[in-house]
Amino acid sequence: MVQLLNKDRFPIGMGTWHMGDTSAKRKQEIEAIRHGVDIGMEIIDTAEMYGEGNSERLVGEAIKNISREDIFLISKFYPHHAKEPDLGRSLQQSLRRLGTDYLDMYLLHWRSNYPLEQTIDTLEKYVEQGVIRSWGVSNFDVADIQEMWNIKGGQHCAANQVLYNISSRGIEYDLLPMQKRQSLPTIAYAPIAQGDTRGDSIVENQVIQAIAKQHHVTVFQIMLAWTIRHDDILAIPQSSDTKHIQENMEAATIQLSNEELTLLDAEFPAPTSKMPLDII
Ligand SMILES: NC(=O)c1ccc[n+]([C@@H]2O[C@H](COP(=O)([O-])OP(=O)(O)OC[C@H]3O[C@@H](n4cnc5c(N)ncnc54)[C@H](OP(=O)(O)O)[C@@H]3O)[C@@H](O)[C@H]2O)c1
Repeated sequence: MVQLLNKDRFPIGMGTWHMGDTSAKRKQEIEAIRHGVDIGMEIIDTAEMYGEGNSERLVGEAIKNISREDIFLISKFYPHHAKEPDLGRSLQQSLRRLGTDYLDMYLLHWRSNYPLEQTIDTLEKYVEQGVIRSWGVSNFDVADIQEMWNIKGGQHCAANQVLYNISSRGIEYDLLPMQKRQSLPTIAYAPIAQGDTRGDSIVENQVIQAIAKQHHVTVFQIMLAWTIRHDDILAIPQSSDTKHIQENMEAATIQLSNEELTLLDAEFPAPTSKMPLDII
């Protein structure tokens, strides 16, 4: 099984939700992805759900002249495709759209009504066949991970992809510590709170603004640096803008001091009790 995070792997990848949907933006989006790979963001996250294949098609086009080994491709399947023959069909369609013969990681997008045992069994079979190098889950909370851990093969899960950013810290209460104990990497989606379009007004917070100014970076870069402050978390910000992609890559070099982290904690407090899993 491949390791999602190791000492050589860059801790920021690229999300691609909503990309590939608008023909007017296609050229810009392809350039953005290619630039990201060029500067070291080798992990690309997509899903069959995104634009019903549009995102995978766009990624396929963006990477077609790049050596496959230089990219780490993650895709996801719908929960209603989580059993055979649908799962195999979904996988084949994703591979075709992406123009590749294997995925580095294949994720169950969220909990399915089908028995998890069956899904894991099938995913293990695809790992054996080499069509996927690893599999994982997404939007799994503590009870889901616990259940999975007790299923044969469940401990081969290579990552859990969940919403995590400075204004959505619920998973720190129990899920993150649990995954750390089990050495299960976390993929943080919406790591910059969808560009702060969810009405949280993080960008207007004076403390985060002051810290950004001190580092000569943007608030979004501080949000990213904060998300990956622990070495077992991968962040996958989405951007169609080459300049933003560059900034996102550079965010990995920002070191937040203990004092800055304490200031941020006061503004964006860690959870003190169990929170429902934040999902978008
Ligand atoms: N597993 C799941 O259920 C799930 C759910 C949601 C998302 N995801 C994955 O996670 C990825 C990221 O989440 P997300 O797309 O929802 O939100 P996000 O990455 O937090 O935010 C994306 C938004 O931020 C903007 N942005 C990116 N970099 C920026 C920068 N440096 N400065 C200013 N704005 C910037 C982008 O606009 P520009 O294009 O203008 O840069 C875009 O509007 C998705 O694309 C998808 O791959 C997974």
